Amino acid sequence: MQNQEIRTFGRRHGKKLSARKLWLMENILPAISPKNIKKAGNFILEIGFGNGEHVRDLATTNTESVIIGAEPFVNGVAALLSAICDEKTNEVLPEYKNIRIWPDDVRDLLRETDSKFSQIWVLHPDPWPKAKHEKRRLLSAEFLNTLAKHLSPRGQIIIGTDHWEYFDWICEQIKTTKLKYSTPDMETIHTRYQQKNKANTVAPKYIIIEK
Ligand SMILES: C[S@@+](CC[C@H](N)C(=O)[O-])C[C@H]1O[C@@H](n2cnc3c(N)ncnc32)[C@H](O)[C@@H]1O
Repeated sequence: MQNQEIRTFGRRHGKKLSARKLWLMENILPAISPKNIKKAGNFILEIGFGNGEHVRDLATTNTESVIIGAEPFVNGVAALLSAICDEKTNEVLPEYKNIRIWPDDVRDLLRETDSKFSQIWVLHPDPWPKAKHEKRRLLSAEFLNTLAKHLSPRGQIIIGTDHWEYFDWICEQIKTTKLKYSTPDMETIHTRYQQKNKANTVAPKYIIIEK
């Protein structure tokens, strides 16, 4: 369903996909949709996974959990698919069988599911630095409240950003809600965007939100 909400992401398509990636998009992606998951179990969500490095880390370090990654950027989805599938057989590798991919706006997924998540990760959300684009920022108080409804008891929302102005803005948004939060010193989580460090800051800052 196409929603009328303000778009929080940039481009959906990058360069042309290789034949293998197109094949994976057509043949593997539908089989690992979060729509196919059974209700029971521990679920972890990553929003805007980019190329999916951290989704893969989550899958191998939380082998008992189902990791759901949401990302509307087609080339990112294809990159993750390519990394989790065997180069020869194109089957999903055993260590990544707990990954599910939602190739679209996470807000549509959240409307469709009543699953609860023990962790919700948002690493380097688009900062939309220009004042006229501020309304495109994903992590508004309203959206954070929506995410909190999808947390299991003692569940956490973990946010990382190297854009310190956005960091402060998110903290201000949280203060208008009833959610609790902390800003712990954490070891840097390496992702593609973090490596680019477009904001030219020293290191990402992290926020952990709880109900
Ligand atoms: C700056 S990139 C960071 C990607 C990755 N987390 C990393 O650190 O390399 C932000 C990503 O969030 C995605 N995004 C933005 N709005 C989204 C939404 N509503 N649902 C899911 N993903 C979204 C964008 O498509 C983009 O790939």
